[in-house]
Amino acid sequence: MKKTVIGVLASGRGSNLQAIIDAIQAGRLDAKIGVVISDNPEANVLKRMAGVDIQALCIDRRLFASRRQFEDAVAEELAIHHVELVVLAGFMRILSQYFIDRFAGKIMNIHPSLLPAFPGENAQAQALAYGVKVTGCTVHFVDAGMDTGPIILQEAVPVLGTDTVETLSERILHAEHILYPRALALYCAGRLTAAGRHVNIIDKE
Ligand code: GAR
Repeated sequence: MKKTVIGVLASGRGSNLQAIIDAIQAGRLDAKIGVVISDNPEANVLKRMAGVDIQALCIDRRLFASRRQFEDAVAEELAIHHVELVVLAGFMRILSQYFIDRFAGKIMNIHPSLLPAFPGENAQAQALAYGVKVTGCTVHFVDAGMDTGPIILQEAVPVLGTDTVETLSERILHAEHILYPRALALYCAGRLTAAGRHVNIIDKE
């Protein structure tokens, strides 16, 4: 079967991208990364890609007069690389309805909480401040809201009394690195169907 071409959008460290690359290399994910795009020229994710045989580039939001123009540039680059699924991996920008419509049902995100709890920035700090005993991570399809799209997979992670934002983030990140490739593998195998808010996983034949 033809490999699904994914395009990864990332703004920072790039550890989820690394987990995706590792899963592809280990044969756990039947996909090809067509392009990696960062909106931030300083992002570690770009340094991570140096020397790796994957096309990586920066589309600096600050160089565009409007979000529409920035998103057009991103969409154009994704099209050039024949991207079939857009994967947000620590991409710290809200995408407009305009962009989402261009890739309807074909954008995934990972978020470091059990949504709908703690959307937006600093989800781990939000969880600690609230005092929950369990948090985790969520992979979901992207809609125009803030972390509101249909949920694909979730993994729970305990919150310990001794946790700091750093220790909790690290524990969640470990779960993210397993969960995101699993969700992508389900998509690439054609095993996800979405009906409204509900994503169903089709059993293997
Ligand atoms: C991850 O924890 C991801 O869940 C989070 O940013 C981090 C990126 O790490 N994303 C969000 O908070 C999106 N709302 P990475 O750059 O090492 O993959």
